[in-house]
Amino acid sequence: MIYPIVAYGHPVLKKRAKNIEKGEIDVLQLAEDMFETMHAASGIGLAAPQIGKSIRMFIVDSSPMEEEDLMDFKKVFINPEIIEEEGEEWAFEEGCLSIPTIREDVNRNGKLRIRYFDENWEEKEEEFDGLKARIIQHEYDHIEGILFTDHLSAFKKRLLKGKLSNISKGNVKVDYRMTFPNR
Ligand code: NI
Repeated sequence: MIYPIVAYGHPVLKKRAKNIEKGEIDVLQLAEDMFETMHAASGIGLAAPQIGKSIRMFIVDSSPMEEEDLMDFKKVFINPEIIEEEGEEWAFEEGCLSIPTIREDVNRNGKLRIRYFDENWEEKEEEFDGLKARIIQHEYDHIEGILFTDHLSAFKKRLLKGKLSNISKGNVKVDYRMTFPNR
């Protein structure tokens, strides 16, 4: 099932999401639906708040980036916890399915260690760096109620204000289904 993606300005994107109790929801089904929704929108990451669910779950699949070490990076993260972030900060241009047409450089640490449950409720602890870490940091932010635009300078935010307000009203060209909070 393809969910509409919640656009910038919706309160669910600014809320810290809640942990999922094992058995509370069908995480296998939800993961499948999230992958379907994300692929239909050509995304490489999607967090549950972006489909209106304030729960701590996100998915990644960077195979569309067609880079060798990113081809097999397809994962489900449930109740994740970043337990360490380190390494030099580096800038990379990010975008977000909830904020179509806007792309901006964001600075983030190069490396992280994360503990999470996969879709079979198996607990994992892993380290990631480079673009994998980057994608995880962006999605992890979503379940903390943070958007990549929150990391921008006050100056940049001011420049983007009109564009962001238009996105929240649905005045944006996008080729996947969305819900706009201020339409
Ligand atoms: Ni995003």
